[in-house]
Amino acid sequence: MTGETDRDKAVESLFAKRFGAVPQAVASAHGRVNLIGEHTDYNEGFVLPCILSQRTLVALSLRDDDRLEGDSAQFGSASEQPGAVPTGHWLAYVEGAVAMMAEAGAPQRGVSVVVDSDVPAGAGVSSSAALGVALLKALAAAHGMDRPDPALLARMAQRIEHEFIGLQCGIMDHMVSAVGAKASAMRLDCRDLSYSLHPLMAGVEVLVIHSGSGRKLSEGQYNARVAECRAARDALGVGALRDVSAGDLERLADGTAHRRARHVVHENDRVHAAITALASGDAASFGALMMESHRSLAADYDVSSPVLDSLVEACRDAGALGARLTGAGFGGCIVCLVRSGDADSVLAAAMKAVPEARLIDRIAS
Ligand code: GLA
Repeated sequence: MTGETDRDKAVESLFAKRFGAVPQAVASAHGRVNLIGEHTDYNEGFVLPCILSQRTLVALSLRDDDRLEGDSAQFGSASEQPGAVPTGHWLAYVEGAVAMMAEAGAPQRGVSVVVDSDVPAGAGVSSSAALGVALLKALAAAHGMDRPDPALLARMAQRIEHEFIGLQCGIMDHMVSAVGAKASAMRLDCRDLSYSLHPLMAGVEVLVIHSGSGRKLSEGQYNARVAECRAARDALGVGALRDVSAGDLERLADGTAHRRARHVVHENDRVHAAITALASGDAASFGALMMESHRSLAADYDVSSPVLDSLVEACRDAGALGARLTGAGFGGCIVCLVRSGDADSVLAAAMKAVPEARLIDRIAS
């Protein structure tokens, strides 16, 4: 892990400059884009994300005291005692990671940490999951834990968000950040965390385009959707919306609950259909499923926005195979599937429709 690339070396020397010694551990984790399977993870359903090339690097050492001291070109410098970290501050992830490790049996110690990230924050590409997973990987290494189970690290990173950040997110982001591989879609069953990696189709590209409008998950809308799904689940008397079939939906009298659950049920079906399309190299069907997913997220799940809709339409009209909002929605990014030769013209059309839009990543097999 240590010294693998120039960026790994750079974060090590930043640490040495800041703290006067080489770090005990360096680790990194990638941001993600979800190809299909949105708002299904916290309903114990299925998702199909893929890692981005951007990643977050962490260099750290355990301290003799319990202080948390961090430095990051992107997030700023801070030094706090555990328990005194301001709400929402990036050191809360460090505090959470230390607490998770202590629960796993490591001695509770403070840390000195340097973070370097090129995963855009507030873009809906899981910069926070990348930070949590990278911190946990580095801490596990510093505590001498040999090859920690990635699913365990992912669960811990999810708990950091629940318990230290206040976001009731699912497990998708942390799992793909912990185990994803380049240019591979990860089919994840969010109930038992079983997964498989599927190479992307040849001859296509996945474009990740930021709408230019940021979103802040903890601002309530996301947690509200989680609560609405729980209410629908309870009304149907099932363990999770994953266990609901289209026929069951009639039993939901409340209009909002019905629409939310209808999205989840059909989105899970679309993930299975997308995996079949991926396996048979059927990019056109995969793209059509992405378009359906976007319509459902906009009409039934109410998480799209005019700017996301404009971007999706511009990509479709310019010949994309499919496009949809990705991540939680309410702003952030769209993901677009194009035949390789069409990538530039689709991008140009997207930028013309939404001048604030910018390309985040291009992924090809
Ligand atoms: C955010 C959450 C994920 C997932 C998506 C929506 O990215 O962190 O757990 O729920 O939204 O699919």
